[in-house]
Amino acid sequence: MSVSDFDVHLDPGALADQMARDVRAGLGSTPKTLPPKYFYDARGSELFDEITRLPEYYPTRTERLILDERVAEIARTTRAETLIELGSGTSEKTRLLLRALSDAGTLRRFVPFDVDPAVLKDASAAVAEEFPGVVVSPVVGDFEHHLGELPRGGRRMLAFLGSTIGNLDPGQRARFLADVRGTLAAGDSFLLGTDLVKAPDRLVAAYDDAAGVTAAFNKNVLAVLDRDLGADLDPDAFEHVAVWDDEQEWIEMRLRSLRDQTVRIAALDLEVSFAEGEEVRTEISAKFRRERVAAELAAAGLRLTHWWTDPAGDFALSLSEP
Ligand code: AVJ
Repeated sequence: MSVSDFDVHLDPGALADQMARDVRAGLGSTPKTLPPKYFYDARGSELFDEITRLPEYYPTRTERLILDERVAEIARTTRAETLIELGSGTSEKTRLLLRALSDAGTLRRFVPFDVDPAVLKDASAAVAEEFPGVVVSPVVGDFEHHLGELPRGGRRMLAFLGSTIGNLDPGQRARFLADVRGTLAAGDSFLLGTDLVKAPDRLVAAYDDAAGVTAAFNKNVLAVLDRDLGADLDPDAFEHVAVWDDEQEWIEMRLRSLRDQTVRIAALDLEVSFAEGEEVRTEISAKFRRERVAAELAAAGLRLTHWWTDPAGDFALSLSEP
């Protein structure tokens, strides 16, 4: 049926300014960092898609397995009229949720929320075609900044899948969960996907696969800076590194400089030097335990009501409410 006009909270100019600020701050700090959100240009999204099918990368298929098994229960429990999906991407798993809510007879509206208008356009059209009775209201925005602007009214379920929350550090997570709490009303629910702590060798393999797809994904951020900020970073001058931090319980992806080098970033009028062996942190991917998820939700004013995992305990879906 209908795809309403995009509700835009982020214009391309604001996005470009944000990238310039983030890169200047990240490469100016010690140790150097780059935010993971810049992995996802067209090539990066393609590489991520490839990652989700790798034998070593279990999270995507495991989450789908849990969802498959639990969607009917989720639909009965939440009786959601509106499904809002944060960082909706291609909405493949969302379809399972939409189908179950539609079968339960409650679904009225779908709100895909993403930074990328192109991704939203495709996802919206596909869902509108498959669910003719559902109003699709896409929102362009950044889940760290624009949750306050989500449409209100009706019983809503907010879904944040794929363990994307793991890319946020503890401070960012606390702010994000407080924003989630702030947008939810009585009767609404929050469905969250979290990857779980497990043997480090399996975690490292998932972020340093034998075929080198994750290495290409990591280095793609350099190509993004070259194109969007007129930088002259050479992907062959860096190598991919994935390490498990046992204390923080997160995976870190880094790019290690293979030589002493100075790069120029034209759009920032900036020169940045890297020493041989120096590492730039490009992503954290936090892994969780049930107690930590429950505690972080509680600190934000959300009460965990359901916790579902696969039989091996690799991944969890949780449902919480204000
Ligand atoms: C999409 C953020 C959940 O952290 O596992 C995959 C991104 N990085 N391989 C993750 C990613 C390297 C992924 N998330």
